[in-house]
Amino acid sequence: MYFIGNWKMYGDFSSIKILKSINSSINAVTKKKDKIIFCVPYTLLNFFSLKFKKSKIAIGAQNCHHLENGPFTGFVSSKMIKNTGAKYVILGHSESRNLGEKNKLINLKIKSAIKNNLTVIYCIGETLKEKRNKDTNKVLSKQIKIGLKNIKNIKNIIISYEPVWSIGTGIIPKIKDLKKTITFIKSKFSKKYKNKVKIIYGGSVNPKTISTFRNIKDINGFLIGGASQSKKKFIDIIRNYYK
Ligand code: PGA
Repeated sequence: MYFIGNWKMYGDFSSIKILKSINSSINAVTKKKDKIIFCVPYTLLNFFSLKFKKSKIAIGAQNCHHLENGPFTGFVSSKMIKNTGAKYVILGHSESRNLGEKNKLINLKIKSAIKNNLTVIYCIGETLKEKRNKDTNKVLSKQIKIGLKNIKNIKNIIISYEPVWSIGTGIIPKIKDLKKTITFIKSKFSKKYKNKVKIIYGGSVNPKTISTFRNIKDINGFLIGGASQSKKKFIDIIRNYYK
């Protein structure tokens, strides 16, 4: 299982305390195969990557430019992220899509990240309006088709299904809807990959809601926003998941 923290635009050097504290409790609650990843602001990537190099915690970024270098003031490339020691990058998060990031551009970013040996956490999901219009499958199809165009090997991609209306709201999907959506996402992949594609869920995952997701066997993990900035909440999510 993947338990991935998304710190968004929160955290500074002193936040190392939170991760150190999580690190000291993590072995007691996780299984050997679990992957614990924290996607933090660019400013913390190198510091945290070095500090947790020999631990169960891996570090990731939250976006990247689609090119490796160039006259792009203010941007950071996947090559630079790799250079910090980070191993993962979130791409296509709805908070980035909200600022105008389109599937086509995300596709270029994913390719660049894979080329630079980062594992991509590719976020897809419908807005409330799209859900109400019953456009969820259409939106997801497009995000998968264009976002993953010409990407032959999905080994280094984790799909994170995050309904936009669930992010930071405390509202989670109905289990039967979520099961259907996960099956739909799987159906978008060729036979070869259908059973290999890793799909995680994100949106209001916390120590309470996590128990709801326990019985969905096709979910390979969780992307955790708000609750990942608290040691207690993050550890309780894992503990309650395995209860
Ligand atoms: P949330 O955020 O857990 O605070 O809802 C999830 C995310 O945006 O990845």
